[in-house]
Amino acid sequence: MDATKVARINAGDPPIYELGLEDLLKRHIGQNLRATTDLAQAVANSEISLIAVGTPFDGSAIDLSYIREVARQIGTVLRDKTDYHVVIVKSTVVPGTTEDTVLPILEEASGKRAGPDFGVGMNPEFLREGEAINDFMEPDRIVLGGIDERSIAALDELYAGFPDVDKVRTNPRTAEMIKYTANSLLATLISFSNEIGNLCAQVGVDVVEVMEGVHLDKRLSPILADGTRVNPASLTYLAAGCGFGGSCFPKDVKALIAYGENEGHSMALLKSVIHVNEAQPQKMLALLHKHFPDLKGRRITVLGMAFKPGTDDIRESPSLPVTKQLLDAGAIVTGFDPIACEEAQKVFGDRVVFREDLADALSDAEAVLLMTRWPQFEQLPELVKNLSTPPLVIDGRRMLTRTALSRYEGIGLGRA
Ligand code: UGA
Repeated sequence: MDATKVARINAGDPPIYELGLEDLLKRHIGQNLRATTDLAQAVANSEISLIAVGTPFDGSAIDLSYIREVARQIGTVLRDKTDYHVVIVKSTVVPGTTEDTVLPILEEASGKRAGPDFGVGMNPEFLREGEAINDFMEPDRIVLGGIDERSIAALDELYAGFPDVDKVRTNPRTAEMIKYTANSLLATLISFSNEIGNLCAQVGVDVVEVMEGVHLDKRLSPILADGTRVNPASLTYLAAGCGFGGSCFPKDVKALIAYGENEGHSMALLKSVIHVNEAQPQKMLALLHKHFPDLKGRRITVLGMAFKPGTDDIRESPSLPVTKQLLDAGAIVTGFDPIACEEAQKVFGDRVVFREDLADALSDAEAVLLMTRWPQFEQLPELVKNLSTPPLVIDGRRMLTRTALSRYEGIGLGRA
């Protein structure tokens, strides 16, 4: 329990950055929302508990200690609670966790039986950082996993405000698997695109053109009766870049691999997804080395520290290994990110100079590594145009028009 966070929430001050969260919190706090450190009170006075604690991956399995602890505490409260209560796991957990770990702890701590005495379910979340509120308010699907009809009915009631959204009603194990499968598929699309991009770069082909051609397959971008084409958002994951990061994709794919191996499966495809992804930041450095074989004393600017735009989250960001290796090679590193500098400074201290202004960050750079698809980086050609010696720009997201820059390199760009 973190009393400081609870106090901040009750004061309408969100402890994390998320677009629109502060307004939303201020609108509801003290009205129909309240944070507390008193778990017993909260469980006793509610009908449903949603467990949303972290499940960090320690390299061999997800760490269930937080989930176990909270399940034990909820179970203890259920011992004396006479009203029917439902416990829902929202944390991402490998298949079987809700029924084989959480449920027995609840039964033991409460002295009651799951099913007749209380409900148990699993309701995965599909929120993207930076879009979390939108994704919640306008969900594409809602997965309701329950051990019995009554548990599923409780979840149905909880989401009654979304009558038109597709709902999957299933058991907890399937709900858990849906979550991992969804993230693993998107991660696979990215690594697939990167493998193709790396080959393109080598053989004199531009992956951006290749993917444009691939996206036009009507099975990927359907053509409607009126001749217009639908461009599904999934296509944005079919694009080459400097690799995926964040707190979900790398961890979830690795956790599913570990789970699968434990079940006797080789998990060869998903292992390759991770392998390709971990090698991808190196492609940025390889492109830099082509122009600067010795980085000692070179002034290099890293644009974008966040793992993706719209967040200050730098966890597993490809910028981290790249910046570290630049420093190790003796480069003079300048960093820029619209909102993630503070987080990055915690990692790199004063070894990296972070600039608050994009133009400043570019002003004396010999090379610029574009790592995050922040929209403001579209101004790059304009900003470097007037510099006396325009820097080499290495586009890790292939978001710039390559002809707009005099010295340009990009991931997946081969020149015949
Ligand atoms: C991801 C999923 O997209 C969510 O559906 C899921 O709920 C969440 O994980 C989770 O498990 O909690 P998130 O990690 O916030 O959400 O970020 P994404 O926007 O999916 O980005 C993940 C990675 O994919 C990033 O490194 C990003 O750069 C990359 N990406 C994202 C692309 O390469 N292309 C895109 O179009 C979008």
